Amino acid sequence: MCGIVGYIGNKQAYSILIKGLRRLEYRGYDSAGVALINDNGNLNVCKTKGKVDNLEEYCKDKDVSGTVGIAHTRWATHGEPSAVNAHPHYSESKNLAIIHNGIIENYADLKRKLQSKGVEFRSDTDTEVLVQLVEYIMEHKDVDLLTAVQVALFQVIGAYAIAIIDKRDPNQIIAARKQSPLLVGIGKDEFFLGSDATPLVEYTDKVVYLEDGNIAVIRRGEELKVVSIFGEEQQLKVKKVDINLGQLEKGGFPHFMLKEIFEQPECLTNCMRGRVNVDTDNVVLSAVIDYKKQLLDANRFIIVACGTSWHAGLIGKQMIEQLCRIPVEVEYASEFRYRNPVITSKDVVIAISQSGETADTLAAIQLAKEHGAFIYGICNAIGSSIPRATDTGSYIHVGPEIGVASTKAFTGQVTVLTMLALALAKEKGTISTENYMHVVKELHEIPNKIKTVLQLNDRIADLSRTFTYARNFLYLGRGFSYPVALEGALKLKEISYIHAEGYPAAEMKHGPIALIDSDMPVVVIATHNAMYEKVLSNIQEVKARKGKVIAIVSHDDNTISKIADEVIELPDTIECLEPLLTTIPLQLLAYHVAVCKGLDVDQPRNLAKSVTVE
Ligand code: F6R
Repeated sequence: MCGIVGYIGNKQAYSILIKGLRRLEYRGYDSAGVALINDNGNLNVCKTKGKVDNLEEYCKDKDVSGTVGIAHTRWATHGEPSAVNAHPHYSESKNLAIIHNGIIENYADLKRKLQSKGVEFRSDTDTEVLVQLVEYIMEHKDVDLLTAVQVALFQVIGAYAIAIIDKRDPNQIIAARKQSPLLVGIGKDEFFLGSDATPLVEYTDKVVYLEDGNIAVIRRGEELKVVSIFGEEQQLKVKKVDINLGQLEKGGFPHFMLKEIFEQPECLTNCMRGRVNVDTDNVVLSAVIDYKKQLLDANRFIIVACGTSWHAGLIGKQMIEQLCRIPVEVEYASEFRYRNPVITSKDVVIAISQSGETADTLAAIQLAKEHGAFIYGICNAIGSSIPRATDTGSYIHVGPEIGVASTKAFTGQVTVLTMLALALAKEKGTISTENYMHVVKELHEIPNKIKTVLQLNDRIADLSRTFTYARNFLYLGRGFSYPVALEGALKLKEISYIHAEGYPAAEMKHGPIALIDSDMPVVVIATHNAMYEKVLSNIQEVKARKGKVIAIVSHDDNTISKIADEVIELPDTIECLEPLLTTIPLQLLAYHVAVCKGLDVDQPRNLAKSVTVE
């Protein structure tokens, strides 16, 4: 949510910053801006509403020279998307420019105080308050930028990642972090700043992830220095990032989302690599080996997550309860953190997050930690805040997910949850050897089966055209397919702006059936499992009311094909692994409906990839 880039070195900063913004655009794209100090010591700030393309167009005839600069792509929190509200914001004297990701909760209070002292504001944002505050402190206390930032941050309540430059000292960027990700890339005689590593991977693989309360003092020609808000020097922990550039490009696909849907066989193979051994029919997760006692002694598991990751959690619950007989609760992190939940030191909290930065999930982890729970993270972004806040965990290893609608991360999360359930069930003795081997073998086959499902892409593209008229969609499923119905509905809503609801199929007659008429498409997951006959009856109920049924069925289903309007046949697998297959056509359906409607699939309106505000 909001992307931050910075550069200081010997090169011209502008093109590095613009390229970086493009990499970060998935985090927010309602406005963008850049601030540079040129060789004459002028601070030039350019910002526009809309995407990075607009900014580049606007900058064509502007002075964008300079070897130090900061840039930002925004997802609006305070103040509507507009050029004025876009970052960077600058101080009244135009000496300082700041970019900020996060929220300053007490900004209204600080603004009032500054206004009462005569400071004038240009924008409605909380960020401008921060830069004006820093300038006010510099002027009135006669201190340097670092000290002024420290003093200002003491007064600030909220979350932030900031970078700030001062035209009177073009050899320095000050950057600080609290609850919003920020890292410094270390090159040869140059430094980079990023909200994540994607803008800097082509220049360096050495990064320092700032911790909460850290301030980076980045000076041209000097070693990087990191201090605490109190000024104590911190030890630098330089990490190596392992992202290849190909993962950040579309690789011939028209959209990242389609690329990421098609990557799933390879992603899940990577996710299982070294963990699922089909020769020995074994699943090994290092976290389960290292923390067996904490996990097996747990009274219950509590899964906390948001959005798509929460849907993965619902599948994980069924898997863990069925295979391990451990009670599992699944909570929206945003609800959990505020409702004073019962948490004990005998609980294991599993936090699921693609980005590893979701503010509500992080806060839920903190709360659980305070109550002594053991925390297990399931994340994608390596080195992000959530894995660093947990006791242990398992990365899903599906590579950077750029499309705003999550696809491969979901199947990666479900795969890790499956491996976790299998590894624990074996340790606990709650699964028979025969069943264990059967699930492991089938899990190993999933990437190949997804390849078969992906061959249906053209057919799904064709049928999607028929449904662009719809204003509502219903998605139905039972058991393991219910979370898939929720996920299918979320994908459609997010990128096609069609209202969609996921429901447990049997609940339809308790209300949603009233919505069904000849205009209503109903997607039903009706694979061959214990619930088949019951879901078949639900399909009859929809057809009796002239609804349009799109049925996701198992290979060779001759019954449903006679009643449904459209049938998508999938390879067979065992029930608990079906979500890994049934999700794929729903991702493709949402994708193609949105494409047919001419919408921006990778960057749907109002959304951002990484939700670092609550
Ligand atoms: C949906 C989607 C969101 C995220 C949610 C949690 O396509 O991407 O619903 O799943 O914002 O994000 P993470 O997993 O990064 O914590």
